[in-house]
Amino acid sequence: MKFFADTADTAAIRELAETGLLDGVTTNPSLVMKSGRDFKEVVRDICAMVEGPVSAETVALDAETMIAEGRELARLGDNVAIKVPLTLDGLKACKTLTGEGRMVNVTLCFSANQALLAAKAGATFISPFVGRLDDINLDGMELISDIRQIYDNYGFETQILAASIRTVNHVSEAAKIGADVATMPPEVIKKLAAHPLTDKGLDAFLKDWEKTGQKIL
Ligand code: E4P
Repeated sequence: MKFFADTADTAAIRELAETGLLDGVTTNPSLVMKSGRDFKEVVRDICAMVEGPVSAETVALDAETMIAEGRELARLGDNVAIKVPLTLDGLKACKTLTGEGRMVNVTLCFSANQALLAAKAGATFISPFVGRLDDINLDGMELISDIRQIYDNYGFETQILAASIRTVNHVSEAAKIGADVATMPPEVIKKLAAHPLTDKGLDAFLKDWEKTGQKIL
């Protein structure tokens, strides 16, 4: 499973990139607003920091302008994945932009039928929003599972990018189902490594090591 950071915070991205565990980044207009930075500048910076796909979202509602915005965003880095919304215009833009050999992430997916359409439009990534479905008492993981089954039935190569991930359990559940990618806030990525028994065990080992009076270096 690939891990993407869902943020436009370059300091957090740099820290994660240094672990060697970061495969890409997703941004959206709300995350850009939160960063307080110029959109194009921040996308350019992130693209230089991370080798994998960096999603940058269009904001037009009509396909023609969306395509033009997508082409402009693609100029910010070779690894830009153009993000378009799951609307009919977004699907039309997806078809055109992927036809030009560009990566496209179709976002704001909340149903299996929407995901099926995105795959038919040649999307590189489909982003089902798990947390936002859970927020309204629906089952986000059930959607991931439905999409996995549909894509496997027809051999679609669109990658399932589990988005709106809020907890570490979301990550393991999505991995068990076979989502290709999980995009999550940096804090969630860090929490994946944490376990109280690891901390307790390490503490005990180090105390005993100290008693030996030895050194490795
Ligand atoms: C995905 O690309 C989105 O940026 C993101 O996962 C949305 O998450 P949220 O529901 O926590 O805002």
